[in-house]
Amino acid sequence: MRTKIVAGNWKMNNDKKESKQLIKDLKKSIKAEKLENTRVIVAPTFVNLSSSIKAAKNSKIEVVAQNMHQAKNGAYTGEISANMLKAIGIKTVILGHSERRTYFNETDKGLAEKVDAVLENELETIFCFGELLEDRKSDHHFTVVKDQIANALFHLDKVAWKSIILAYEPVWAIGTGETASAEQAQEMHAFIRSIIEKKYNKEVADGVSILYGGSVKPANAEEIFSKPDVDGGLIGGAALNVADFTGIIKAI
Ligand code: 13P
Repeated sequence: MRTKIVAGNWKMNNDKKESKQLIKDLKKSIKAEKLENTRVIVAPTFVNLSSSIKAAKNSKIEVVAQNMHQAKNGAYTGEISANMLKAIGIKTVILGHSERRTYFNETDKGLAEKVDAVLENELETIFCFGELLEDRKSDHHFTVVKDQIANALFHLDKVAWKSIILAYEPVWAIGTGETASAEQAQEMHAFIRSIIEKKYNKEVADGVSILYGGSVKPANAEEIFSKPDVDGGLIGGAALNVADFTGIIKAI
């Protein structure tokens, strides 16, 4: 059975005190939930990772990073490497978020290198991708998504896929309040699984968790999560509010 995952990407929100408080509140609010085969993840900013890990101790909550640099070390002012994250207890890193691609010029090639650095350090990644509105309108969404996945991940061997979580985030649905319909999400997730099966095999395709992201709220989470190829969500805005995030976790 595939692992179900609800992950909160906090983006550039929450200072140290707010991060600790949100984790504390979340700990309390999900305490009674069984959460079998389900992971609960939060991704605070770099500077708050250590204090957040401490705050999440003795709970189901996993703390992950939002990004990293592909090099081990060197003259890359302002950057942070996989081994540095690993050294403070981080096990998972989000890569390829559309905001990174758009505002920080992240490319498929650079992302492939980041994925390699993640694996070299025995970490795991939540790898994000998704089409722009114009891609969907011009009916290119499947090609765009296929290229994003193939260019950054198809050089990996089968075993490496145990450390990959995919997150399909159509850019037009991020922070816009416009969600992909459950059918649109299912259609794309099934397509993603089919291209992985074609490249590798059914075992790899069936084993990878594929999350949906883009304006997931407690009100629409259940319907989206009910689809067979949707294994959870990557949540932005609604992850900043403990009641909303808890509602989404309950939906899974
Ligand atoms: P929203 O849930 O705010 O649309 O953001 C989704 C997202 O970008 C998660 O990474």
